[in-house]
Amino acid sequence: MLNTVFVALAILFTLQVFKALHLRSRLPPGPSGLPILGNLLQLPTSRTWLTFDKWSKQYGPIFYLNIAGQNTIVLGTHKAAADLLDRRANIYSDRPDFVVLNLLTGGMHWAWTHADDLWKRQRRGAHEALSAQTAKEYFAYQETESIIMVDQLLTDPKNFLAHFQRVSTSLSLSIIYGWAPVLDSDHPTIQQIDHFNRHVLVSAVPGSFWVEFEYFKWMKYLPKWMCSWRQYAEKRYSRDSVMLEGLSANVQKQIDAGEETTSVAGKLLQNTGSLFEAAWNSTSIYAAGSETTAAQLAWFIQAMILYPEAQRLAQEELDRVVGPYRLPNFDDHEHLPFIRATVKEILRWRAAAPLGVPHRLNQDDHYEGYFLPKDTICFVNIWSLNHDSELYGHDAEHFNPGRFLDADGKLKSSIEDTRDEGHFSYGFGKRICVGRHVANNSLFIHIAYLLWAFNIVAEVDSNGKPELPDPLQCIEGLTIRPVPFHCNITPRSKDVAEVITQAKVERIGEGS
Ligand code: HEM
Ligand SMILES: *[C@@H]1O[C@H](CO)[C@@H](O)[C@H](O)[C@H]1NC(C)=O
Ligand SMILES: *[C@@H]1O[C@H](CO)[C@@H](O)[C@H](O)[C@H]1NC(C)=O
Repeated sequence: MLNTVFVALAILFTLQVFKALHLRSRLPPGPSGLPILGNLLQLPTSRTWLTFDKWSKQYGPIFYLNIAGQNTIVLGTHKAAADLLDRRANIYSDRPDFVVLNLLTGGMHWAWTHADDLWKRQRRGAHEALSAQTAKEYFAYQETESIIMVDQLLTDPKNFLAHFQRVSTSLSLSIIYGWAPVLDSDHPTIQQIDHFNRHVLVSAVPGSFWVEFEYFKWMKYLPKWMCSWRQYAEKRYSRDSVMLEGLSANVQKQIDAGEETTSVAGKLLQNTGSLFEAAWNSTSIYAAGSETTAAQLAWFIQAMILYPEAQRLAQEELDRVVGPYRLPNFDDHEHLPFIRATVKEILRWRAAAPLGVPHRLNQDDHYEGYFLPKDTICFVNIWSLNHDSELYGHDAEHFNPGRFLDADGKLKSSIEDTRDEGHFSYGFGKRICVGRHVANNSLFIHIAYLLWAFNIVAEVDSNGKPELPDPLQCIEGLTIRPVPFHCNITPRSKDVAEVITQAKVERIGEGS
C-alpha cells in the first residue's frame, strides 16, 4: 500500500518536473537560476539597467527571469518593446500587484493599479487635464515658475538642486490645486508630499519587500503584528491620506464659495463630486510629475558641465532668436530647434526611469516562437533602447543634441517606434506617460531660461583642474537622479539680473 502511494507520488513528481522543464524550454532564454528563488539572487543591487543591458546582448532582445516564482521578461530592443507593449497594448497594459504600494495608497494611486475600470476613468480624466491642447493653458504658470527659478539662482546658485525640486513641485501644485507659486523649497506641504512620493517610489522597486514575490505572497495573510511592512504602510497611509484629502478639500471650499478654479483638482471635483476620488486622482498626477521633472533638470546641468560645446551652440541660438534684452517664451518654441533637440537629448541620455514602470501581460501570448504565460511582468530596458547604437550611432553614450537636427539645423523626422519623440523615456502603450506634454513644455521653458541667463561650468579645484561629475553615478529608486555635485552657475551678462527683476515685477508684483 505504502509502496503504491510512493510510486504514485514519484510519478506525479516526475510529471511536474517534466512539465516545468517543458515550460522552461518554451520560455525566452535567460540566465539560469536556483530552484525556488530562481534568478532573485543574481539581480544586481544597483544600476540594474546596465546588467540587463549586458544580458540583452548575451540572450537576445527578449530574456526571461524567474524572480522567486514570478515570470518576468525584459525587452531590450525597440522592436520587441513596440511589438508587444505598443502593438499588443490591449493585453500588455496591466500593472503587477504592488502589495506594499497599494497599502501605502489605499489602492488609489492609479499609476500603479491594474488596468481596470477605475484606472480607465482616472486616466481619461487626467488625459483631458494634460492633453497637448490643454497643456497650453499652463504656459503662463510655467513661465512664471521659470522666472522664480532663475531669480533664485541669481542669489543662491549653489542650491540649484533645491531650486529644481521647488520649481517642479510648485508647478504641479499650481496646475493641480490652483496654488500661487510656492517660493520656499522647505515649505511643509512640499516636504510632506515629496516624502510620500519617495516612499511610494521605493516601494515600487522590485525587491524592496519580500511579500512582493510570488512565493512569498502568503506573507500577506500573516497577522499584522508579524508584518512590519504592513504596520509601516498602514501608518503612513492613514497619515498621508489625511494630508492629501486636505489639499483637495481646500479646492472644494473655493468651489463652494463660488470662486473660479481652473485647477485639475477643481475639474475632477466638479466631475466626480467625490473628494476622496479627486484627492487621489490629483495625487497620482502630482506624484508622477514632480520627481521626474526635477531629476531631468539635474541631469541637464550635468550634461552642460560635461559637454560645453552643446551649451555654446544652444546659447548661440538663444542670442540669435531671443537676444539679451528679454526672456525667452513659448512663442519662441518654433524658432528654437536646438533647445528642443536639447530637451529630447536630455530625456534620451538620462531618462528619469531607466527601466520604466513595469507592465503585466494579462493573457497567455506567443512571440518569436516563445511562450509568454499570463501574468508575466514586462520590463522595457529604456536605457538600452535609448543607447542603441543602431538607432543613435557610435556616439550613443554621449550627449549630443545635434543628432536630432539636419544639415539646415531643423529637427529631423523621427526615430522608429518613438512617436516623434526621438527617445523611449515616456514609456509605452496605454500606460504611456500621460503628463508628457506638460513635461516637455516645462523642460523646454526651464532649459531655455537657464541657458539664456547663465553659463554653467564645472568648479575648478585648487590646482585649476575642473571637477567633473561622473554621469554614471546616481541615486536610485524607480527614478534616477545624479549624486549631488558642484558647479558654477553665473549670469552671462550684466543685463541678466535686470531683465529677470523686471519680468518678476511684471508677473508676480513688486513685493515678492
Ligand atoms: C519629466 C519627465 C517625465 C518622464 C521621463 C516620465 C516618464 C514616465 C514613464 C516612463 C511612465 C510609465 C509609462 C509606462 O508604464 O510604460 C510614466 C507614467 C506616468 N506619468 Fe510620467 N514622466 C514624466 C513627467 C510626468 C509629468 C510632468 C506628469 C504629470 C503632470 C506625469 C504623469 C504620469 C502619470 C499619471 C503616469 C501613469 C500613467 C498610467 O499608469 O496610466 N509624468 N511617466
Ligand atoms: C477621476 O477623474 C475622472 C475624470 O473627472 C472621473 O471620471 C473619475 O471618476 C475619477 N476617478 C476617481 C477614482 O477619482
Ligand atoms: C516634445 O518635444 C519634441 C520637440 O519639440 C517633439 O518632437 C515631441 O513631439 C514633443 N512631445 C510631446 C509629447 O509633446
